[in-house]
Amino acid sequence: MALLELRNVTRRFGDFAAVDDVSLSIEAGEFFTLLGPSGSGKTTILRMIAGFDFPDAGQILLDGKDLADTPAEKRPIHTVFQSYALFPHLSVADNISFPLRMARRDPAEIRKRLTAALEQVRLSGKADRYPHELSGGQQQRVALARALVNRPRLLLLDESLGALDAKLREEMQVELINLQREVGITFVFVTHAQVEALALSHRIAVMNQGRVEQVDEPARLYGFPRNRFVADFIGHINMMEAQVAAAGHSHLHLAVAGLGEIVTPLQKDVAVGDKGVFAIRPEQVRIGLQADLAELKNHFPGEVHSLLYQGDVSVYRVRLPNGKVVEALLPNAAPGRAELFRMGAVIKVGWRHDAGVFLHE
Ligand SMILES: Nc1ncnc2c1ncn2[C@@H]1O[C@H](COP(=O)(O)OP(=O)(O)O)[C@@H](O)[C@H]1O
Ligand SMILES: [Mg+2]
Repeated sequence: MALLELRNVTRRFGDFAAVDDVSLSIEAGEFFTLLGPSGSGKTTILRMIAGFDFPDAGQILLDGKDLADTPAEKRPIHTVFQSYALFPHLSVADNISFPLRMARRDPAEIRKRLTAALEQVRLSGKADRYPHELSGGQQQRVALARALVNRPRLLLLDESLGALDAKLREEMQVELINLQREVGITFVFVTHAQVEALALSHRIAVMNQGRVEQVDEPARLYGFPRNRFVADFIGHINMMEAQVAAAGHSHLHLAVAGLGEIVTPLQKDVAVGDKGVFAIRPEQVRIGLQADLAELKNHFPGEVHSLLYQGDVSVYRVRLPNGKVVEALLPNAAPGRAELFRMGAVIKVGWRHDAGVFLHE
C-alpha cells in the first residue's frame, strides 16, 4: 500500500481550480517531487497534505486512512519552510528540541530524542553551537533534525533551497539526497527548478495549471516526455512539426515539410496520419562533416547559424533546409578550442534512429 495517496483532489478558489482532479501515489521511503511553474498548484497540494487547507473534492489518505478528520497538529507530517527558519539566538540543541519543549514533553524523553536526532544528521559534536557558526549545509541539517524529533512519517519541503545561490544550492542538494537516504524518511519536495528536481528525486510529478501532466522517474521524464508541455518544461528540446507517415514494428517514419523523413522509435498511441511534433534533445543532435555522420539514419544538410560558447559545452544553432533552426550541444573536450565549426559553414546534422520522440499537439 502507498504511504500517501491523493485521490481526485480538487481545490477551488472561487471559480478557479488551483488543484484540478489530482491523483498521486507516494511510496514509503520515496523522494517525491512536485515540479511545475509558479502558480501550478504545488504549494496548495502541500498545504492540503499538511492539513493547513482542505480539498473541495477528493481524498487524501495516509496508510490507507482518510486524513479529512485529522487536524494538522495530529498528522504525522512535518513541513519544512523556505530558508529553514532557525532561531538565531538558540543553540543547535535548543533549535532541535524546540518542538518537544513546546509540546511539554518529559525532559528525559527530550534528551533521548535530541541525541538521536543529532546522530541522525551527524551533528552530535555541534549541539552547543549557534546557527551563524554553522555552514549552510549544517544549518539545513539542523532544520531537518528539528523536523525529525517528532518522528513524522512524511516530510514536506516547499522550495526549501530556493533562496540559495547556485554553488551552495548544489552542495545542499547533495547533502539533502544523502540525508534522505540515511534517515529513510519519505520526502515530498516542491520546486520550480527542473534541474533540481532531476538531481534529487526518485520520482517527479510535473504540474501545470493545477493538473498533473506526467509522473515518472527523472530519466524517463527527460527521455520520454508525454506531451509538449513536459518536453518543453524539462530541459531544452528542439521541436518541429511532423506527421506520422508510416509505422514499422520498431520505428516510426515521420514526414517533416521541407525536410523529408525522420526515423524515430515506435511509440504506443501513435497512428499513421497523426499530426504533432518531432522533439529531440540538443545533446542527441550531432553535427559534423559528411563522413562523420554517414552511419546515422537521420541526416540532413545544415548551415551553422550561431554559436554559444558556455565553457563546458558549446551550443550550435544550425539551420536546416526547411528554415528550421535546431540546437546541437557539443562538449568542449579539447581544451582551449571554442569553435569547431564556423558561422555560415555548410555541414551535416544528424541523430540516431533511436533518438527523439513524437508528441501529439
Ligand atoms: N488562498 C488563496 N486564494 C486565492 N487564490 C489562491 C490561494 N492560494 C493559492 N491561490 C492561487 O492558486 C494557484 C496555485 O497557487 P500555488 O499552489 O501557490 O502555486 P505554486 O506553489 O505552484 O506556485 C495560483 O494561481 C494562486 O494565485
Ligand atoms: Mg509555491
